[in-house]
Amino acid sequence: MSPKLPSHLFPFLIILTLASLYYFSSFISLNTLSSSSSTSPSLTISTCNLFKGTWVFDPNHTPLYDDTCPFHRNAWNCIRNQRQNLSLINSWKWVPRGCDMNRIDPFRFLGSMRNKNVGIVGDSLNENLLVSFLCTLRVADGGARKWKKKGAWRGAYFPKFNVTVAYHRAVLLSKYKWQPKQSESGMQDGSEGIHRVDVDVPADEWAKIAGFYDVLLFNTGHWWNHDKFPKEKPLVFYKAGQPIVPPLEMLDGLKVVLGNMITYIEKEFPRNTLKFWRLQSPRHFYGGDWNQNGSCLFNKPLEENELDLWFEPRNNGVNKEARQMNFVIEKVLQGTNIHVVDFTHLSEFRADAHPAIWLGRKDAVAIWGQDCMHWCLPGVPDTWVDILSQLIIDGFGRTRACCQVVGPIYENFELYIEMSKVDVGRKKSFAL
Ligand SMILES: *[C@@H]1O[C@H](CO)[C@@H](O)[C@H](O)[C@H]1NC(C)=O
Ligand SMILES: *[C@@H]1O[C@H](CO)[C@@H](O)[C@H](O)[C@H]1NC(C)=O
Ligand SMILES: *[C@@H]1O[C@H](CO)[C@@H](O)[C@H](O)[C@H]1NC(C)=O
Repeated sequence: MSPKLPSHLFPFLIILTLASLYYFSSFISLNTLSSSSSTSPSLTISTCNLFKGTWVFDPNHTPLYDDTCPFHRNAWNCIRNQRQNLSLINSWKWVPRGCDMNRIDPFRFLGSMRNKNVGIVGDSLNENLLVSFLCTLRVADGGARKWKKKGAWRGAYFPKFNVTVAYHRAVLLSKYKWQPKQSESGMQDGSEGIHRVDVDVPADEWAKIAGFYDVLLFNTGHWWNHDKFPKEKPLVFYKAGQPIVPPLEMLDGLKVVLGNMITYIEKEFPRNTLKFWRLQSPRHFYGGDWNQNGSCLFNKPLEENELDLWFEPRNNGVNKEARQMNFVIEKVLQGTNIHVVDFTHLSEFRADAHPAIWLGRKDAVAIWGQDCMHWCLPGVPDTWVDILSQLIIDGFGRTRACCQVVGPIYENFELYIEMSKVDVGRKKSFAL
């Protein structure tokens, strides 16, 4: 006679079976992600490209956190700021073409990251991602507390899992500072001067973090323009402590900075640190730029056939710079062991998901205009986090064959040729 299982064990066995099914099914989807049959000449690592797809309306798709998350930044806390139709806006779900994308499971993610740390370096669009990441992960560890060490601007420590996730603010990545002009009398009033960028020196905020983080995500981009650095107070590029002559234009400076920072990353950071570089977050100013009453009072995503109208540099619209920047950045990243993460395309659809006029301060719009650049939280950055967490788990799950590039290769190269003339000065010895 076969031994009989005590009946009180059955619920337990069912749960165990379901749990293991879930566990293994997630492996299957990850393997789909990393299988290497590629149908296009673009350097995607798989047939399943998480960055191409559509937004599908799904009323059951609801955020994992709300306005009470202690890591919010006021101007992005769109629930508290009562952004109109926010629940409608957050009912859209990103569905990649031809593959399943799992939403992040904060418990499983933190569980698989036990004793590991994630560092995010760059500008406020990466901070936007950080806030979403922290609020999402906090679901699995209510004891999460603020963390701000090693030059971090902000971050959190998750004690249940011994995991730290933090953001290091370095908008240009390179060290830069305001350098007032010396007048003849030796006096300076500080109103005239330059922004000095040391192309070969990483900003202090992230220069000493090698070895601490197991995953790093970099970005830069939207500070490289003449709104931030007008002609009277320009960026002036220095190398080895001396001004570069002839002086570099801003975009050429960007290329040189990228080349140097990537060389630094490849040289200084351990090989087994998982490194990502995220592409630009697109803006959605309609009817004018941010300082010309540009607006983004939309209630639904753009249609695919509208995207080129908004973002194609050939159309010379106010939102064209994301694709231009991407072209430069992707070119410099080619051949490195840094994975390119393309959040641009999926975000281009979401004209409806910015804080716009709901900024939590009455005078904010009068002073700065609408915010059609950062994103409401909860919102689109939650999808970035879903994708990033999948790439991180995938990255640790396999022997780290280096160098897959996950990202778009734009087809209209001729337009960008002009932008890629400068030698970035990245030493090939570090490229793999
Ligand atoms: C958005 O909210 C406004 C005001 O509540 C409403 O009039 C409008 O119909 C809403 N838009 C959609 C698409 O539901
Ligand atoms: C927490 O993680 C760090 C690595 O980030 C490790 O050095 C440390 O020993 C861990 N602490 C505990 C209590 O496991
Ligand atoms: C923006 O709108 C305000 C108020 O309607 C108006 O006074 C101003 O001229 C506009 N600015 C631009 C650049 O269109």
